[in-house]
This record gives sequence, C-alpha cells and structure tokens, in this order.
Amino acid sequence: MNDLVQRAREAMRHAWAPYSNFHVGAAIESADGAVYVGCNVESASYGLTICAERMAIGAAVVGGARQLKRIVVTTDVDPPAAPCGACRQLLAEFGLGLEVTAVGPSTQKRWTLAALLPDAFTKETLDR
Ligand code: THU
Repeated sequence: MNDLVQRAREAMRHAWAPYSNFHVGAAIESADGAVYVGCNVESASYGLTICAERMAIGAAVVGGARQLKRIVVTTDVDPPAAPCGACRQLLAEFGLGLEVTAVGPSTQKRWTLAALLPDAFTKETLDR
C-alpha cells in the first residue's frame, strides 16, 4: 500500500491543473501486481479535463490489465478527496470489489467501490 501511495504522489507531481490548482494522483494495482498511474490534466476548454483516476484506468487498459485490485488517489486535502462520480462509474467496468483508498497529507479513507457506487449500472445490467 505504501508503494502505491508513493506512486500516486509521484504521478500527482505531474498534474496539469493551472485552472483549479487542485493536483490529483492515482495509482492502480492490477491482479498481477503491476502498477499504473495517472494525474489530472486540465484544459482551457474546462469540460475536457481528465481526472487522475480515469487517466490511470486508461494506462491500465492499454497496459493489458483487466483485473484491477486497488486504487489509491492522492490529493493535498484532508479529509482526503474521494473519486468523482464519473471516475466511480468508469472504475465499475472492472468490478465493484475494487478497493479504493483516498490519501490526504495526514489522513486516509478506504472503501470498496460497491460502497461508493451503490446500485451501480454495470454490464450485468445490460445483460438482464
Ligand atoms: N479531479 C480528479 O482528478 N479526480 C477526481 O476524482 C475529482 C477531480 C480533478 C479534476 C480537476 O482537474 C480538479 O481535480 C478539480 O476538479
């Protein structure tokens, strides 16, 4: 877990957030122990902003990972910032059992994705 926190904080240093000045880092560990990172990238066309979590999901997918075990999200705020709704929904693609840990400068909070996204709309919904 400490390694993941470190990787997310390293990624956070690369955040491009000139509009919000809110820097976010994310590190995802897949079932085989590989780690994929992301940071937020903002745009002068604000709506194009990409969150750190979705950047890390993209890195994991392009790296061939499909089974995601845990994600750590780092910010500079306490209590720590949980993933936004859009990121929760995209994470749900890879299973609601995902462990989600939000880390601030001095506190941490942990959930399962199922707890963060109750009654989720998933691919199982499409199969009904
Ligand atoms: N942000 C993330 O990277 N992840 C989240 O889950 C919430 C918000 C970013 C987007 C934007 O660059 C900044 O934080 C402020 O919203």
